Amino acid sequence: MDRIVQPGSARRAWPGEFRHVQQCEGLIFTPAIVGAFGGDTTSDPFEMRCIECGKVHTQNRAAYACTSCGNLLELRMDRAKALERMSEAKMQKRPLSVWRYKELIPVGEGAQVFTLNEGGTQLLDAKRLAEEIGIRRLRIKFDGTNPTGSFKDRGMTVGITKARELGMKTVACASTGNTSASLAAYAGLAGMKCVVLIPEGKVALGKLAQAMMHGAVVVSVEGNFDQALDVVMRSSEKLGLYVLNSVNPFRIEGQKTAAYEICDQLGGKSPESLYIPVGNGGNSAAYWKGFEEYEALGVVSGHPIIRGIQAEGSAPIARMFASGSATMVPVQKPDTVATAIRIGNPANWKKTYRAIKESGGSATTVTDAQILSAQTKMAKLEGVFAEPAGAAAVAGVMDDLQRGILGRSSEVVCVSTGHGLKDPDVAIAQSAKPTTIEASVEALERLLGAA
Ligand code: F0G
Repeated sequence: MDRIVQPGSARRAWPGEFRHVQQCEGLIFTPAIVGAFGGDTTSDPFEMRCIECGKVHTQNRAAYACTSCGNLLELRMDRAKALERMSEAKMQKRPLSVWRYKELIPVGEGAQVFTLNEGGTQLLDAKRLAEEIGIRRLRIKFDGTNPTGSFKDRGMTVGITKARELGMKTVACASTGNTSASLAAYAGLAGMKCVVLIPEGKVALGKLAQAMMHGAVVVSVEGNFDQALDVVMRSSEKLGLYVLNSVNPFRIEGQKTAAYEICDQLGGKSPESLYIPVGNGGNSAAYWKGFEEYEALGVVSGHPIIRGIQAEGSAPIARMFASGSATMVPVQKPDTVATAIRIGNPANWKKTYRAIKESGGSATTVTDAQILSAQTKMAKLEGVFAEPAGAAAVAGVMDDLQRGILGRSSEVVCVSTGHGLKDPDVAIAQSAKPTTIEASVEALERLLGAA
């Protein structure tokens, strides 16, 4: 099954998308910051454009794909206008959070912002883990400490704010779990109806509990994430659903703030390299957008290389890099213990492929065993309990060190995307079971080998 690129595909088109579109060869890299918008004299620094043909689309209507060529849309920032806004804003005086950067986020000035105080997550100096795996410096951006336990909250605060601005009544998503948990929470906060489609039997327990508790209509689809997303996209127009998957360009605008934060936390410096898990490809593209914008705005000089990490059984982007192809071939039956990134046909593949390429990085795979090993080390050595997908970046660093691709004197930042409590089953399955004793000091002594 293809999504938006394979010519002659049998898949039905999403709304606003042309069925037969060109393949992504001969890439043209277009920076997210542009010199000036044609003839626009207002102070709004944002324009929504197609990532491929550049067609400008209105921001006042629900839209995800270009009406001319079917590719995804993105927000572009006018440099001069953004600088003007920033100079008046004194951003650095505000606490670290998504909305610290509100002048660089495309919502209307009078918009009602729905927030749970997301972002502002720790950038941990993981000294014990660095020593264990043999690297000079390893930092972890622990986005599992967001309000609903994943990075999705960064995107949802902006996405839901936009949904209300557009007058939408119902929001929807397909999800491997975290998007549904986050969307449900923010929809509740904004008093909107929320519909989430999840792949049957493949969503971690904690995430399911969240979506249910926050009051979403939870629909289990007989199929995988890719099929669930296809249903959501194709029904959105007919059923009046505002889709808040990462194909929604406003969600990316919230998520890009994590890159700004890292630079700010490093004292106005960009990291050397950033390791990040890749599933549907939205977050890696969002990070790159953030780094690129911060560089273009002169806040930092330089940008990191992006190392996208995929699970071996769900790795269409990594396969592109391995084969040198600029076209993605979907994985039909994706599988991995890291269910969050169990995705075979990433909707954002073009965005993330370009982001990684443009950064000078690449994408590779890690096995489930490597992911679980990284998860355990993070928990035991750093007090960071990440869900399996949230440990994939550290697994990628360990793999690169072992293969000699990454020098031992390097400094890296790993993005840990979701909290371990989301997926208790995986955690318990790989841990020693509790031992039962009678309620006595002697029994405890015996157990600890002290008697
Ligand atoms: N890590 C976690 C914990 C995730 O939940 C996801 C995606 C990713 C990494 C990958 O991010 O898709 O932007 O490349 N989860 C989505 C969901 C698909 O439905 O919750 P991506």
